[in-house]
Amino acid sequence: MKDFIYKAAKDILTAKYVVALTGAGISVASGIPPFRGKGGLWEKFDPMEYAHIDAFRRDPEKVWNVLIMEMKGIFDKAKPNDAHKGLAKLEGLGILKTIITQNVDGLHQLAGNTDVIEFHGNFAWQRCMACEKRCSTANLDISQIPPRCECGGIYKPECVFFGEMISPHLLWRSKKVASACDVMLVIGTSALIQPAASIPVIAKEAGAIVIEVNPEKTPLSHDTSDYMIKGKAGEVLNRLLAEIEQTK
Ligand code: APR
Repeated sequence: MKDFIYKAAKDILTAKYVVALTGAGISVASGIPPFRGKGGLWEKFDPMEYAHIDAFRRDPEKVWNVLIMEMKGIFDKAKPNDAHKGLAKLEGLGILKTIITQNVDGLHQLAGNTDVIEFHGNFAWQRCMACEKRCSTANLDISQIPPRCECGGIYKPECVFFGEMISPHLLWRSKKVASACDVMLVIGTSALIQPAASIPVIAKEAGAIVIEVNPEKTPLSHDTSDYMIKGKAGEVLNRLLAEIEQTK
């Protein structure tokens, strides 16, 4: 790992425009389980039964009672870990410009990053399926499930469910920053879900150095990533920051 930390610090310090793409793995140390793999959420819940928009429309009470309440309980307790804090420090140093995250936990903003593209939306807000009124999840009345808006419509978290479109504006901006960056850090994503998985490919094709941080290989590791720092996000970010601060 040591050689790759050194190499990444050098690449990052030479770069003018560093962007990060993050996935569930970056929040594991904050107590939020990933989706895939051992202990993953999709081992416990079939995503087609709980995380597809058709499933929500068919039976919102079931989806609210099982998946959404479970996620609420987990997110309410979660705090940024060393990896989130490391990315916030990289922004503070003027190095990291933008984070594109697939996570809906809001932890990058809590850590202090200011330009975060929430590719799959965020859990902090709910939208009424009938009148589109928004309500913060913190202020939502959950004494009745599914929670309802005063118009009678059902609230749904502002997260992108399977079968829903990515916001065209967020997709456009993500592609734009991916084409413009000269280093992309890809942290804690299995890179299995499109279109997020194509963002590093866009960066690579536009000439960026793609650095993966993950304990496991992914479909990007062979063709897209220039190299991988194998390890947990928090540990890698701590070592990377130490190297950058020492070299700077
Ligand atoms: N540090 C870094 N990476 C980690 C860590 C860690 N501590 N722990 C696990 N990982 C890696 C795993 O090896 C895996 O590659 O994080 C990745 C998590 O993969 P997924 O659970 O598939 O999460 P993600 O890639 O974010 O999923 C994409 O799928 O179901 C949807 O909408 C959901 O946004 C999500 C999307």
